[in-house]
Amino acid sequence: AIERTFSIIKPDAVAKNHIGAIYNRFETAGLKIIASKMVHLSQEQAEGFYAEHSERPFFGALVAFMTSGPICVQVLEGENAVLANREIMGATNPAEAARGTIRSDFADSIDENAVHGSDAVASAEREIAYFFSTEELCPRTR
Ligand code: CMP
Repeated sequence: AIERTFSIIKPDAVAKNHIGAIYNRFETAGLKIIASKMVHLSQEQAEGFYAEHSERPFFGALVAFMTSGPICVQVLEGENAVLANREIMGATNPAEAARGTIRSDFADSIDENAVHGSDAVASAEREIAYFFSTEELCPRTR
């Protein structure tokens, strides 16, 4: 089925000038970017986005990292978009990510792992709504 998923290019990958290379991975995989913007998260925005991890030991470091510089947020649309994006991202830990995946090629550590992608359609809907209004979504008609 055609799905939408939410994606972040994290501060490490933006700082290393990998935005275009990562967008190319999305498009090469057949995913269409239907919304896109750059933002620098506040502490409150980062804590809210990652609220489900608030009890995890890495939460403080995660929020500090995600507020350390600008990020790119985008909505990707396509056949099985949630799983398709997870496949091209690779495992959360770059050391375990398959060769040729975004995290294998562009990330250095589990904390600074270049990209985020929704893990399910329900979380994608919530994450998209956290960053984008309905008017900011631009589904393709051609
Ligand atoms: P992300 O998909 O953005 O969701 C939460 C992030 O926490 C995750 O990617 C990792 O970058 C980071 N993180 C750090 N340590 C861990 C861990 N042990 N397990 C899962 N995520 C972790």
